Amino acid sequence: MLFNETTISRISVKNRIIRSATHDGLADEQGAPTEALINKYVQLAKNEVGCIITGYAAVSRNGVSPYPRMLRIYDDSATEKYMELTQAVHSQGAAVVLQLAHCGRQTSSKAIGMQKVAPSNVLHTFYPDKAKELDEDEIYAIIDDFAEAAVRAEKAGFDAVQLHGGHGYLLHDFLSAFGNRRTDKWGGSLQNRCRIVELIIKEIKERTNLPVWIKISAEDNRKGGMRIDSSVEICKRLEKAGCDAIEVSCGTVQDGMNTMRSKRMPMDAVFKYREPCASFPALLNKIALPAANLINPLLKQPQPLENFNVENAATIKKNVSVPIIVVGGIFELSEMEKILSTGQADFVSMCRPFICEPNLVKKLKDGQKRAKCIMCNYCGLVIEKEPTRCLYGKVKM
Ligand SMILES: Cc1cc2nc3c(=O)[nH]c(=O)nc-3n(C[C@H](O)[C@H](O)[C@H](O)COP(=O)(O)O)c2cc1C
Ligand code: SF4
Repeated sequence: MLFNETTISRISVKNRIIRSATHDGLADEQGAPTEALINKYVQLAKNEVGCIITGYAAVSRNGVSPYPRMLRIYDDSATEKYMELTQAVHSQGAAVVLQLAHCGRQTSSKAIGMQKVAPSNVLHTFYPDKAKELDEDEIYAIIDDFAEAAVRAEKAGFDAVQLHGGHGYLLHDFLSAFGNRRTDKWGGSLQNRCRIVELIIKEIKERTNLPVWIKISAEDNRKGGMRIDSSVEICKRLEKAGCDAIEVSCGTVQDGMNTMRSKRMPMDAVFKYREPCASFPALLNKIALPAANLINPLLKQPQPLENFNVENAATIKKNVSVPIIVVGGIFELSEMEKILSTGQADFVSMCRPFICEPNLVKKLKDGQKRAKCIMCNYCGLVIEKEPTRCLYGKVKM
């Protein structure tokens, strides 16, 4: 089943294995895909990934990531490069989906050169500067930004778009009662919290023929935030609004070790790549890093480390009819097969395993039983300063 050809929302795919959205840090200064990014996707496609979801692409100027070299799609300047990218991937027989995102509170005003925006001004511990609470006109402008980004994606030849509705970004903050403290028609009830996403789906459907997918954090670990029961109700509403596929993830960037789990925090990478630690004077680092390493084993990490969204995906699948994609700690070939054969999800997606082994699908087909990635999470910290890369073999777990 895993390796059989099939379709997902009208798109033909070689198999049921998807590369989950991964910020590659390989856009140019304007946010256009570079040759290096296109080559990376061609390698994945050549090695038989069924579908590649791009790294998150900003739909608005004020929705850009603080991480360098994010993809951007808020104007027409990159259309030709995006076209090159889709043609290159299609020529190798894979499908390619553009992930559309607005970073909301999960960026800094310094990084975007203007005040950041959010449904409500809730403190973000990594990016503590104040977010401007969006007014109604600004909310409609963001809906328009998502829809126009999808129009550009269709022109460029993408097979679908995926809304980034998880991990603490703007749409997640609207959906979740933690990030959304509004008392107007955009907040409060679940119906109101879903309004922006429903309108985005509707607008994209009106302006394009593209399937619209969404990635959500079915559980976000925040006080009063997303839990599986409310996520099921949200998914039912989004399906009704026209959403064509749902990818089930969890967590937020603030508790990043939940979204991408690991036995322990890679402290040396935190001190090298994450602000403010990365800017500590060398002398302070000399004291602070050993101290952090000392307490590291005492820090409790989310469990389980593998297949951690499968149960939630299965619950959502029971309540909707659109295809369900599950991501998060999927490393074992036997688990991938089990997820599909027991009907817990329709597709499996992976991020870190493909950073480590872009040729993983081919290897699995040739008899490898498990992805090589050791969940050290160095790649997740490297991206705060540099292009994404794997440190397998260079670090100990
Ligand atoms: C380096 C890196 C970059 C990521 N970039 C994105 C992104 O752009 N969009 C997104 O939805 N998730 C992103 N994620 C999260 C992954 O897609 C995925 O949900 C998470 O890593 C769990 O899957 P895994 O266990 O297969 O790695 C990223 C994760 C990593 C490690
Ligand atoms: S750095 Fe490599 S081995 Fe470590 S989590 Fe990332 S992909 Fe896996």
